[in-house]
Amino acid sequence: MTLADVNRRRGSVFVHQSALDLIGNTPMVDVSNLSPNPNVRLVAKLESQNPFGSVKDRIAKSMIEDAEREGRLVPGQRIIEPSSGNTGIALAAIAKMKGYPITILMPTSVSIERRQMLEVFGADIILTPGEEGSNGAVRRATEMAAQHPEWCFLYQYANDANPRAHYETTGPEIYRDCPEITHFVAGLGTSGTLMGTGKYLKEQNPDIKIVAVEPPLGERVEGLRNLDDGYIPPVFEHWNGRELLDRKRVVRPRESLEMTRRLVTECGIFAGISSGASLAGALKVASEIDEGTIVFIVCDGGWKYLSTGAYTDDLDAAEAAAEKIIYF
Ligand SMILES: Cc1ncc(COP(=O)(O)O)c(C=O)c1O
Repeated sequence: MTLADVNRRRGSVFVHQSALDLIGNTPMVDVSNLSPNPNVRLVAKLESQNPFGSVKDRIAKSMIEDAEREGRLVPGQRIIEPSSGNTGIALAAIAKMKGYPITILMPTSVSIERRQMLEVFGADIILTPGEEGSNGAVRRATEMAAQHPEWCFLYQYANDANPRAHYETTGPEIYRDCPEITHFVAGLGTSGTLMGTGKYLKEQNPDIKIVAVEPPLGERVEGLRNLDDGYIPPVFEHWNGRELLDRKRVVRPRESLEMTRRLVTECGIFAGISSGASLAGALKVASEIDEGTIVFIVCDGGWKYLSTGAYTDDLDAAEAAAEKIIYF
């Protein structure tokens, strides 16, 4: 008898077979105490509760299992991926569990905790020049993957299993737990979260508005990119991003830090900086509409950003530090 059989017999849903089964079904929390409009409810979806710490657990599992099903990833094969953070950590954790060696390319300028997490999960790390940012790591990984066709290059920016994970899990969970949703707000990195969740929500109710949060051109908010910075992720093109997105809201690094601090001090939610950006975007929408329910994504927890001083340093110093550290 397997553990699953025993659990079924007992009617228990609390003992899981594997940490992989803990991915998804994340909780949602009402944070309307932050709303500038008494007729607008604000709800946070806590992706920080995933077992490897972020929204990227969903796509790491989905991309690996998809590659296994299609025979693009076979036992012992090396995985290679450019990532300055969450995707790399989730892939490294799952690769370790499943016995795949993995190489992650990341810019030198990421926070120390990210490198440490990759070390915890035994990934091989190749550092790329910090001044080239995440685009530099993507370029180098693409070159290496071409030189090593025997490796498995998952490439989250173009992998359909990325938005599909959100279409099949994040979207249905939000609609199940909060069917009164009127607006969905999230940051845009690969665009997988917005494309997959947004498409599912619009199919349930075409009136739900999908709102992307972007940093201003040339400025940095961790985890996020501005679509005008010269790179449009293929996922965004393939999932008809221009049609799917109803609005974009630009959020500055300082606002992201301020809102990340409000989340922890006023709601007890210890989140990463892109979550502050999502909240800032949600607050802008809240002050523009008469009534509604806005769901925004808390992508990850604050643990990996402690060394940056984002929570406790003087705000000017934290803002200056945020300019130097690349997180996406
Ligand atoms: C912390 C954080 N927030 C937001 C995002 C953006 O999510 P997505 O890649 O699904 O657009 C990312 C990913 O790049 C991230 O690491």
